[in-house]
Amino acid sequence: MKQLTILALSAMLLVACNQPTKVMENPSIQTIYTRVSVREFTGEKISAEQIDTLLRAAMSAPSAINRQPWAFIVVTDEALIARLGEALPYSRCSNHPACAIIPCGDLSKAIEGEMGAFWVNDVSAATQNILLAAHAMGLGAVWTGLHPDIKRAALVQELLGLPEHIIPLCVVPVGVPAEHPAVKNKYLPENIHHNGW
Ligand SMILES: Cc1cc2nc3c(=O)[nH]c(=O)nc-3n(C[C@H](O)[C@H](O)[C@H](O)COP(=O)(O)O)c2cc1C
Repeated sequence: MKQLTILALSAMLLVACNQPTKVMENPSIQTIYTRVSVREFTGEKISAEQIDTLLRAAMSAPSAINRQPWAFIVVTDEALIARLGEALPYSRCSNHPACAIIPCGDLSKAIEGEMGAFWVNDVSAATQNILLAAHAMGLGAVWTGLHPDIKRAALVQELLGLPEHIIPLCVVPVGVPAEHPAVKNKYLPENIHHNGW
């Protein structure tokens, strides 16, 4: 039923976007088009293999001059997930995820000088890969922001005992979905400008 709903919604979306049939059938494109933030989970465990797949997806992301300036904290300890949820209500960690992944920037691996801030782009790309991989695997996940909110990032640094050069970008609770939000149509032609503004 869930899959049928998602298929019907994505079909509507794709028709609305007037996409050629071949593109509509492409499973990778389908995954990208139908991903939604999931904030409620059943509390069921997920396997170490599934977590490994998410982390491999994360580390498949592009990064500026291939620095891969990232580290990923995987929190499976229930008490620690609960503490994250208490400290950060917007992280959805109180909503029974199986784990929380915290993608971080590793400043010791970042580009030197003012281009160092590229780590945010790199870790964001890795985070999006986690969301897409989770969705492709029938899991749910949501990006919940920390950086650049210094207070939120500091809370997580403290809770997880992160060294100073490890900056948490966001918290991504992952689990078996207990909700199936509708896909949003965010395609707006007016956002597109050809050959200049
Ligand atoms: C940088 C960033 C920070 C976000 N922070 C939160 C958050 O703190 N809590 C939350 O529930 N969702 C958060 N989200 C998820 C957005 O609310 C969500 O992506 C947006 O509403 C679009 O919905 P969709 O992901 O289902 O397409 C965040 C997303 C991004 C990219």
